[in-house]
Amino acid sequence: MNEDNIKPNKSLTEKIANLKSQMNAVILAHYYQESEIQDIADFIGDSLELARRAKATDADVIVFAGVHFMAETAKILNPFKLVLIPDMEAGCSLAESCPPASFKRFREKNPAHIAITYINCSAEIKALSDIICTSSNAEKIISQIPEDQPIIFAPDRNLGRYLINKTGREMLLWDGACIVHEAFSEERILKLKLEFPDAKLIAHPECTDSLLLHADYIGSTSKLLSYIKEDVSESYIVATESGIIHQMQKAAPGKTFIPAPSSESCECNNCPYMKLNTLEKIYKCMLERTPEIVMNEELRLRALKPIEKMLEMS
Ligand code: 13P
Ligand code: SF4
Repeated sequence: MNEDNIKPNKSLTEKIANLKSQMNAVILAHYYQESEIQDIADFIGDSLELARRAKATDADVIVFAGVHFMAETAKILNPFKLVLIPDMEAGCSLAESCPPASFKRFREKNPAHIAITYINCSAEIKALSDIICTSSNAEKIISQIPEDQPIIFAPDRNLGRYLINKTGREMLLWDGACIVHEAFSEERILKLKLEFPDAKLIAHPECTDSLLLHADYIGSTSKLLSYIKEDVSESYIVATESGIIHQMQKAAPGKTFIPAPSSESCECNNCPYMKLNTLEKIYKCMLERTPEIVMNEELRLRALKPIEKMLEMS
């Protein structure tokens, strides 16, 4: 008899845990996932940490609770493993802002430039790039490129501008952006700062440069998390996707974390793509072993090269 019929009240989380051991699966979750998903994951991390975990795992099945480009990166690193994504529609506005045909033309117009590309892009864009980076390692990677080597940075214009300011390197920027990080309201954040004068503004470098000017600390998701653990302040206004606040509260339960607001009319600090994933969809994708990431081998090999380069350089 089916085990689910014997124990009708068995919770979804228990069912997922059972399937996980039956399948020898690992669940990787990005910090922007719903709290209940973060709580059942084997590893929670930012884009770089999750790519490293995906490379190191000895599980047969990777369940990627994140967005499509992240699951695709896991597949590029693990061609023989089954890589499942709970919702195939979990895309990314930033990845979509860089169509391969236009990027190819952009590269052809600038043949002397190398392309350092943010991991938030499709496999086709990775295959057209020289080195992949994440928000955690971009500075380190750029600092290793010879001074006289011109660079294209794609697809995020905000992260690109931030890196130009940080490294002093001129770079040709692709004009893409993340809908979540561009939607924060500078006006409402400044009002919050007046209301909570002791709260520090911490921000992800995908935010606009005018917002970053007000930030007390700028860093990738994992760097923001490390910062609040070490810093002495008691409260923070958090300008990145609100899912990270779950780990911040766990790491520093005595501190206060205020999600940075977007305009009055929307809750734009929630990534609509990340939030497509649910516990139910995770269970279903494991049970049915679909949707799975499938990739053409020739494309995979071309996309693998710049990812390996990133892992070597970071
Ligand atoms: P990191 O995970 O590198 O901080 O990037 C944030 C992001 O937007 C992921 O989609
Ligand atoms: Fe893409 Fe922005 Fe969502 Fe990250 S937060 S997945 S960059 S749309």
